[in-house]
Amino acid sequence: MSAPPRPAIHEDAALQHSLVRWQAAGVVVFLILVASFPLYKAAEGPRRERALIARDQALVTTGRQLWRLDCASCHGDNGQGGVGPALRSQQFLTGITDEQMHRIVSAGITGTAMPAWSDEFGGPLTDDQIAAIVAYVRSWQKGAPSVPNWRNPQGSGG
Ligand code: HEC
Repeated sequence: MSAPPRPAIHEDAALQHSLVRWQAAGVVVFLILVASFPLYKAAEGPRRERALIARDQALVTTGRQLWRLDCASCHGDNGQGGVGPALRSQQFLTGITDEQMHRIVSAGITGTAMPAWSDEFGGPLTDDQIAAIVAYVRSWQKGAPSVPNWRNPQGSGG
C-alpha cells in the first residue's frame, strides 16, 4: 500500500483560497490609502492655517509685554502717544510696512529721543523680540483711530 501523491500547489484549494483572500485584503488597504490622501490634504490646509494663527497670537503676546517694558513710557501704554508719536493711529499704521517698522525700531532715529533697540546697534532686543513688537503694534490696525496730530500728540499744534 503506497501513500497517495501530494497535490501540486495550484491544486491545493485551501491554499488558493487563502491567497485570494490576502490579495483582496491588499487591494482594500491600497484603496484606503489612495482614498485617504485627498482627505489628509483637505485636513492639512486648515491645520496649517491654525498653526500660523497660533504663532501670530504668541508673537503678539510677547510683543505686548515688551511694549510695556520698552515703549510705553514714550509712546503710551496703548500706543496713544506721549513724548513719541501715537503709533495706534490709522495715519501711522496704514503708512508703514512691517519691514519698515522693524528697521526703524532696530536702528532708532538718529538725533531724536527714539533709541536703537536692536542688539546689532547696541540696543537690548533681539531680532525676534523686535518682530514680536512689530506684530503687536500691527495688531492695533483694525479699529485704530484717526489721529491727525499723531506725530506730535503732545504738541500744541502749530
Ligand atoms: C525715550 C523715548 C522713546 C522710547 C522708549 C521709544 N520711542 Fe519710539 N520714538 C520716540 C520719538 C521721540 C519718536 C519720534 C522721532 C522723530 O522725531 O522722528 C519715535 C519714533 C518711533 C517710530 C517711528 C514713527 C514714525 O515717524 O513713523 C516708531 C515705529 C517707534 N518710535 C517705535 C518704538 C518702539 C517699538 C519702541 C519700543 C521698543 C519705542 N519706539 C521706544 C521716542 C521713544
